[in-house]
Amino acid sequence: MPRTPLVIGSERSEIGLPGAVELLRQGASAIDAVEAALTACEDNRADHYVGTGGLPNARGEVELDASVMLGSSRAFGAVGAVRGFRHPISIARAVLERLPQHCLLVGYGAELFAGEHGFERADLLTDEARQIFLEALDRSEASVEGERTAATDGDHRYRLAAIELVRRFRRHDGPWGTINVLALDEAGELCVGVSTSGYPFKYPGRVGDSAICGAGNYCDLRYGGAACTGRGEMSMRLAGAKMVVDGLAAGEDPGEACARMLREAATLEDPFAAELRALALSPDGRHGGASGQRGSTYAVMGVHDDQPALLPRLLA
Ligand code: GLY
Repeated sequence: MPRTPLVIGSERSEIGLPGAVELLRQGASAIDAVEAALTACEDNRADHYVGTGGLPNARGEVELDASVMLGSSRAFGAVGAVRGFRHPISIARAVLERLPQHCLLVGYGAELFAGEHGFERADLLTDEARQIFLEALDRSEASVEGERTAATDGDHRYRLAAIELVRRFRRHDGPWGTINVLALDEAGELCVGVSTSGYPFKYPGRVGDSAICGAGNYCDLRYGGAACTGRGEMSMRLAGAKMVVDGLAAGEDPGEACARMLREAATLEDPFAAELRALALSPDGRHGGASGQRGSTYAVMGVHDDQPALLPRLLA
């Protein structure tokens, strides 16, 4: 059914929405709009939670997760723990479109696939992100002096020190920088994309909800799409995005469906409990978001708008 195109996104997606909306004005598809918005976010070196400039894992390496899902077919493509490529969302799209026998590639395989398909390589660790990482290590009670990368006892202690930071990071104020972008095109297709450098100082190889169908991303054209930011382990334990879409299927308003999922997440024990947020967009263009933190927002831009508007998320 023809629709008025629209894009919504999580905090710090605003940088990508005008380009996405311009594509939609020209009749582009929802997946084109999602990819355009997220590649702009992945290039934003000031954002330390996505793409180039993202904070590294416990070994000082930037590992990226991304996924994209189409509402009409429920086709899903994703990459996890991918290193050295500028636009993980484009690789995720290529998994969806060019590797139909699979949904998710991680690590070495994702990098092999990206290289075979000519995706642009990049040095993802910026000087600023490296500095934040080293300063955080220095602040750690378990920080060690001297050589930090050799495969020695020092290396082992180094990794322990970095893991200690994961625990400290639970006091992070947020918002987490994982980017969600949800788009509705004029043909009525709905698409959800997610891109992130994941939990800073994570254990190498850790893949978060952003790459997991049903956890950080879910889209079903009958009911709507949803995506999560924040502590991915919580949305993985709940299948958070799918739970939001189930709420839409049951007739809940998008914001309320997000808030209900977050209230459920809050019932799970987690010593590293941090902020979790959700966004949802229905096929008829209704949208909403929720957060556990007062004053949090999401961005919305339609084809008649000059710039994104920031709307409040429901307090879960
Ligand atoms: N939600 C992003 C992550 O946990 O990696």
